[in-house]
Amino acid sequence: MVCGNFGGLWFDVFLIVCVVRTCTCLTFKYHNNSELEQVLKNFTNTTTNIKTRLENIGNSFNRIPLWAIELTAAEENTLGVPNIKLIGNIHGNEAVGREIILNFMEYLRTEYDRNTTIQWLLNNTRMHFLPTMNPDGFAVSHEGMCSGEYGRNNGKQGDVEDLNRNFPDFFHDNKIPRQPETVAVMRWMDRIPFILSAGLHGGAVVANYPFDTVKEETSKPINPPSLTPDDDVFRHLATVYANNHLTMHKGVICDNGKKFKGGITNGAAWYPFSGGMQDFNYAKHGCMELTLEISCCKFPRASELPHLWEENKMALLRYVMEAHRGVTGQLLDSVTNLPVSKANLQIYGRNMTFHPTKNGEFWRLLLPGEYQIQVDAPGYYSTLQGFTVRNFSADQLPSLTKLKILLLNSTIPTTPKAETPPSSTPTIGRDLRETTAEEGQTTTLLEFNLLGHFQRSADSKSEYSKGLKPDIFSCFLSMIIIEIFLFVVL
Ligand SMILES: *[C@@H]1O[C@H](CO)[C@@H](O)[C@H](O)[C@H]1NC(C)=O
Ligand SMILES: *[C@@H]1O[C@H](CO)[C@@H](O)[C@H](O)[C@H]1NC(C)=O
Ligand SMILES: *[C@@H]1O[C@H](CO)[C@@H](O)[C@H](O)[C@H]1NC(C)=O
Ligand SMILES: *[C@@H]1O[C@H](CO)[C@@H](O)[C@H](O)[C@H]1NC(C)=O
Ligand SMILES: *[C@@H]1O[C@H](CO)[C@@H](O)[C@H](O)[C@H]1NC(C)=O
Ligand SMILES: *[C@@H]1O[C@H](CO)[C@@H](O)[C@H](O)[C@H]1NC(C)=O
Ligand SMILES: [Zn+2]
Repeated sequence: MVCGNFGGLWFDVFLIVCVVRTCTCLTFKYHNNSELEQVLKNFTNTTTNIKTRLENIGNSFNRIPLWAIELTAAEENTLGVPNIKLIGNIHGNEAVGREIILNFMEYLRTEYDRNTTIQWLLNNTRMHFLPTMNPDGFAVSHEGMCSGEYGRNNGKQGDVEDLNRNFPDFFHDNKIPRQPETVAVMRWMDRIPFILSAGLHGGAVVANYPFDTVKEETSKPINPPSLTPDDDVFRHLATVYANNHLTMHKGVICDNGKKFKGGITNGAAWYPFSGGMQDFNYAKHGCMELTLEISCCKFPRASELPHLWEENKMALLRYVMEAHRGVTGQLLDSVTNLPVSKANLQIYGRNMTFHPTKNGEFWRLLLPGEYQIQVDAPGYYSTLQGFTVRNFSADQLPSLTKLKILLLNSTIPTTPKAETPPSSTPTIGRDLRETTAEEGQTTTLLEFNLLGHFQRSADSKSEYSKGLKPDIFSCFLSMIIIEIFLFVVL
């Protein structure tokens, strides 16, 4: 007994030393708002294999900072790299998403050195995470509160406004006063051209896709769906999530809730509402966002978290890979070769306008097939350019079709300088699709050393923080060794 207690004590000491000293192991618990900030700061300080950027994008109603973090291994100025975001805890009492995002971040940085798929993903994608959009509501919510609205909104008592009703609406004028959290996310979206996104919720298990809003309300008991011109893409994205989630695709019924066939639903077909975040993402920014309901209980016990993480891990990974299915390109002046940043873009037959970035870049997620993109830029002749989005089998890495669209100036040359026409006829709408290195070939395996000593040459700028390499592996290894030692000796 004495001996046993002695061993147990030593084991505890080793464990504590191990966890505190050598490990940034993320524990399965709910991190409160100050702990979340600490975890994110420690994460940036201890990540060296990939670039991290932590940013306060604004403050909540109660002036709690909203922390967003970027993870990528892509070079700073590479064109065509898609931006993805995951937002957790927009409803303060739906807490699982906060911790799922932290675990996903931890998973990505650990696997970067071990798994070429993850390495490829981070090499070619910019991933952004906002673990909580509603720290106010979270602060008044409690573990075990499975249902109800308490803590759902922002503000002192989590009862001011529902942030997922607070965005400009596609069909209606949203008169609800815009909240600081909403403004922060809208500004974030103005700066970064997100192309794929998800908001994590609880209270059901389903992948919900736009529109939530309807042109006209009906009093029918069964709501008709409100479909976007990109319904095929949204349905595909929702299906990718549901099918890779351990249970969602089976159609999980929560309490007296609905059974969703295949684990997916159109928002309005479930229940329509205005001012939602996903509709705004799509209609204003061309960012495909899903509302992912990932647990029946809104704020389950922390002991449920490991299991909830396992359920969502592959789904999240497969989902973010979808940012590479579609088209990207750049609009350039055919004579000056300078980017054209003001234009209305549409995929022919899909009545939804989108816009290029200040670099003239654009992205659009599309299923395999033949398409045409229409470009209307002031001062240039309109262009319709064809392109193909290729199919990728499940074991292949997807790759965006890359276009370079040269636009011909339509203004009559008046200055003597401009009278000399370019020697060669500018090619309008020529398909300059480029094949990427990854296309159709398996990636080369990286040499991977068990203790994770592989390091990417750091070309990061000062704004990316550097720090110590986490050594989760050696922590784990030493724990096992200690355990074996104790088992043998005692
Ligand atoms: C978070 O929890 C820690 C300890 O568990 C506590 O000291 C701190 O005050 C809490 N912070 C908030 C914002 O609740
Ligand atoms: C973060 O690091 C600081 C300083 O190393 C430490 O005091 C703190 O406990 C760490 N917090 C978390 C949540 O890991
Ligand atoms: C992270 O590193 C910065 C700069 O090295 C330091 O100021 C800060 O205290 C560190 N934070 C934590 C939580 O360790
Ligand atoms: C790499 O990760 C992907 C996605 O998680 C997984 O399907 C694949 O089996 C992993 N490969 C290896 C070699 O572990
Ligand atoms: C990721 O980028 C690094 C640095 O450029 C490179 O060495 C590595 O081979 C890339 N990995 C994959 C799987 O593309
Ligand atoms: C395109 O969509 C807009 C806005 O929903 C609508 O006003 C317009 O009539 C549509 N045009 C076509 C050709 O369907
Ligand atoms: Zn919700």
